[in-house]
Amino acid sequence: MTQANNGQTKRGYYGEYGGRFVPEGIAELLAVLERAFDDAVADGAFQKELDTLLAEYVGRPSAITECVNLSEECGGGRLFLKREDLNHTGAHKINNALGQALLAKRMGKKRLIAETGAGMHGTASATAAALMGMECTVYMGAVDVERQAPNVSRMKALGAKVVPVHDGQATLKDAVDSALMAWMNDLDAFYLLGSVVGPSPYPEIVRYFQSVIGREARVQMLEREGRLPDEVAACVGGGSNAIGLFSGFLNDPEVAVTGVEPAGKGLQFGLGAHAATLSAGTPGVVHGFNTYVLFDEKGEPAPVHSVAAGLDYPGVGPEHSYLKDTGRAKYVSVTDAEALDAFGRLCRKEGIIPAVESSHALAYALKRLPSMRKDRILLVNLSGRGDKDLETVLPMLGL
Ligand SMILES: Cc1ncc(COP(=O)(O)O)c(C=O)c1O
Repeated sequence: MTQANNGQTKRGYYGEYGGRFVPEGIAELLAVLERAFDDAVADGAFQKELDTLLAEYVGRPSAITECVNLSEECGGGRLFLKREDLNHTGAHKINNALGQALLAKRMGKKRLIAETGAGMHGTASATAAALMGMECTVYMGAVDVERQAPNVSRMKALGAKVVPVHDGQATLKDAVDSALMAWMNDLDAFYLLGSVVGPSPYPEIVRYFQSVIGREARVQMLEREGRLPDEVAACVGGGSNAIGLFSGFLNDPEVAVTGVEPAGKGLQFGLGAHAATLSAGTPGVVHGFNTYVLFDEKGEPAPVHSVAAGLDYPGVGPEHSYLKDTGRAKYVSVTDAEALDAFGRLCRKEGIIPAVESSHALAYALKRLPSMRKDRILLVNLSGRGDKDLETVLPMLGL
């Protein structure tokens, strides 16, 4: 099967993955959304407005930084970072939030509903809502409200309503459940989904808005080094920062593509100890789409664990499932402890405080670099900054 430039093998599908497994009322809304998206993409004025916002409000293009100190310490290949942490609001999430909010405005919507794990997507949605004069309600697991408190304050300051969700494990999956439920009760609102997950067309829409990362990175590497990187890597929660970066390189077979999942306490401890969906899950339906999922023995989405609230999800974007099965991308996992170690090393060696989510991709890089030749280049997506994590992470590092 061939993949089109939008990653799909046919509309709404990535091989057997993706689709729209939802009640009829929602299916109709999704069809309307799909038409509005097609219409926006075909309208040069929409893209121009988005490009202006990305340049003048977000601060794009985001920089590429070579980590000379860490590369030297690892003694192997050269480490480069794509600096999504430098975007306004501090993560890649703003690329998608602004794009979808513009789409909502075009559709005449006045209210945004969003879910959030780490609070970065919630903050980005609240930001876009403030800018465009819309109301915004963000659903967030009560556990995440505690562990990502600085982002809760930011959302409130921006005028959004934050609704803590106490069901289930009170983390990201439960926030998505509640946001979907809220949408079903308020069909005039716009559901601003934060990752390349959910029923079609959400994975396609989010990929479209995040592909700016890969497009820029490709040009920047060619300009700086005169060639493409040998490998690109990114952390995978739902998978939007990863697809954003990967999309710039999927058609270059010489570039290896690696997604890094959260192994939590360690895969050997079984269900409940990690959130490494592609490494340990099986295909099935969650939140209205077909993909790899971590299921429990009753066939329900299993409890998950990661030190990173943004990676703590039992499903994954359907395109990643397809890229895994076709072998175009490989998926590995790193533990909480490895991610925390990488967090500390980037802070102390490079003067950059990474999000604990992004630290997973870094941890993989620090293990990979020593086995690469000195002239080889590994480009990691630094998906966000870590200010939100300091209160939680510093005690774990004994600081
Ligand atoms: C900084 C950061 N990186 C990564 C993620 C994971 O999301 P995704 O896999 O969609 O990029 C999150 C989610 O909240 C995040 O805040």
